[in-house]
Amino acid sequence: MTKGKSIFTQAVHAGERKAEGEFQPVSTPIFNTVGFLYKDLKDLDAVFGNERDGYVYARYGNPTNSALEEALAVLEEGGAALTFGSGMAAVHASLLAAGVKAGTALVSALDVYGATYAVCTRLMPEMGVRTHFTDVTNLEGLKKTLSDFKPAALILETISNPLMKVADIPEISQLARQVGTKVIVDNTFATPFLFQPLKHGVDFCVHSTTKYIGGHGDVLGGAIVTSKENRATLHEIIKMTGANLGPTEAWLTHRGLKTLPLRMRQHCLNAMEVARWLEGHPRIARVNYPGLASHPHHELARKLFAPGYFGGMISFEIKDAGKKEVFRFMEALELILPATTLGDVYSLTLYPAMSSHRALSAEERAKVGISDRLVRLSVGIEEASEIIRDLEMALEASVAQRA
Ligand SMILES: Cc1ncc(COP(=O)(O)O)c(C=O)c1O
Repeated sequence: MTKGKSIFTQAVHAGERKAEGEFQPVSTPIFNTVGFLYKDLKDLDAVFGNERDGYVYARYGNPTNSALEEALAVLEEGGAALTFGSGMAAVHASLLAAGVKAGTALVSALDVYGATYAVCTRLMPEMGVRTHFTDVTNLEGLKKTLSDFKPAALILETISNPLMKVADIPEISQLARQVGTKVIVDNTFATPFLFQPLKHGVDFCVHSTTKYIGGHGDVLGGAIVTSKENRATLHEIIKMTGANLGPTEAWLTHRGLKTLPLRMRQHCLNAMEVARWLEGHPRIARVNYPGLASHPHHELARKLFAPGYFGGMISFEIKDAGKKEVFRFMEALELILPATTLGDVYSLTLYPAMSSHRALSAEERAKVGISDRLVRLSVGIEEASEIIRDLEMALEASVAQRA
């Protein structure tokens, strides 16, 4: 039904109408059940034995989750998807499915989400995995790291958190393939509206669906889109680890997903206006937004992303500010909320040094390039001029307090 259709049509219809019977609900209902019954136990046996599709027990699958998974696979142009209880559960499962285990190596991009960084620096080494970090925007350096360590997996983000670096995923996938390394891309910031990693040689496309996919700041979740074979491996993992997304959360996420392209279009248009305004403000030292010509990866972003769109995430540095001044600025904002998340309909600010990258030591943050002046802004879908007015007012108020 959605084959060959635009992302706007796919988002509305893909995966829907899972419950068939005498009449068919237009929207797949929430299947709040742990078990599933069959008239003939032979059928249950066949589902358990993976000889036919079906549902047996909630940890093994649920039609509400299947509807969301099908929609995600359509939007990302992957073979199949699996949903998880959070983005971090998806990150963790992707590493296991990619073959990261004791005795293997793992390479991670230098600036990844703080909890992903913590998995690589703490959890993985404790399991006997050798982890290495590299700047994936330096392809020569990456090539050397990959050939030196021959890692089982390379993990990176399409648009990095919080510095908004853009990774040349087609080139990176090719380099990884040459040494037999599986590529895991966290596509949370870009979403399939901007970029579809699986079309460029990536093995596992990970999402924190908590962010743009859900989009309304009301549901935690994660997903991996991949090949059907890798999905089967992930399914075996989730059957053992139980990191499942509940059916109510799956339903809410799927409802959010239907407006993903509409929201993303507005996020991108608003972010472009806000980034241009910030760049011209005398109190702003630096703006990281791939849509700006001043961004070091602007040309790459133009080549890789949907024409004219660069995402809804910005980070910027306030001149001569430290933690105290940044807090003053954030507290002075009225419309933009200081909430520790992103990708919602609401505009949100976050101080990476305090929250998303708190797990990093001050030295680690300095190495990655996250200064104490850095603020992250998730531009919402409100009226752009009103977002700008709020920023202007808060910058003025924080200067006045300083004087
Ligand atoms: C890029 C990215 N990946 C993964 C995660 C983790 O997602 P969750 O909070 O759903 O576990 C986050 C959370 O902020 C994120 O920003």
